[in-house]
Amino acid sequence: MISKKRKYRDIKFTRLVVNIDIIGCSAHLRNNNKTIGSCKWEIQNKGDMYISDFGIEDKYQGKGYGNFLARIVIDLAKLYHLKTIYLIDGAIPEGFWQQLGFKTKFLYKNKVKVDTGNVELKL
Ligand SMILES: CC(C)(COP(=O)(O)OP(=O)(O)OC[C@H]1O[C@@H](n2cnc3c(N)ncnc32)[C@H](O)[C@@H]1OP(=O)(O)O)[C@@H](O)C(=O)NCCC(=O)NCCS
Repeated sequence: MISKKRKYRDIKFTRLVVNIDIIGCSAHLRNNNKTIGSCKWEIQNKGDMYISDFGIEDKYQGKGYGNFLARIVIDLAKLYHLKTIYLIDGAIPEGFWQQLGFKTKFLYKNKVKVDTGNVELKL
């Protein structure tokens, strides 16, 4: 079994640049001036963050960069004392976010469990 410590040590942090644009609500990971991952979000109702367009370039997937970028955005939301993070756009694999604590949100309508299509993390 590969330990998580080992895996994250493999990221070449010395070459990694993290750009966070607070006003533009986006974050980019760059390696040798090349964008290798990015994320956009919106803050609504003064308490909710909506994450969209989250992705890591093909060549760099599976190396821990996605997890690293996700943690940055989650920490930012905590810093702003936001209450909930939602995933939008549907283009984001749920399994990736589940291991970070996100859950599919269900509602009960007439005692029937209904998937709302939202994936959320309560902070
Ligand atoms: C999904 C994505 C953001 C993950 O980023 P990444 O850098 O490849 O992921 P990481 O290396 O940080 O992996 C972190 C963890 O998430 C898991 N994971 C990665 N991709 C996953 C996926 N698609 N579904 C479920 N879990 C996933 C990894 O197994 C890893 O788990 P571990 O820590 O237990 O080993 C990235 O692969 C991506 O941008 N993919 C293209 C977009 C895409 O898949 N779109 C779906 C279209 S429907």
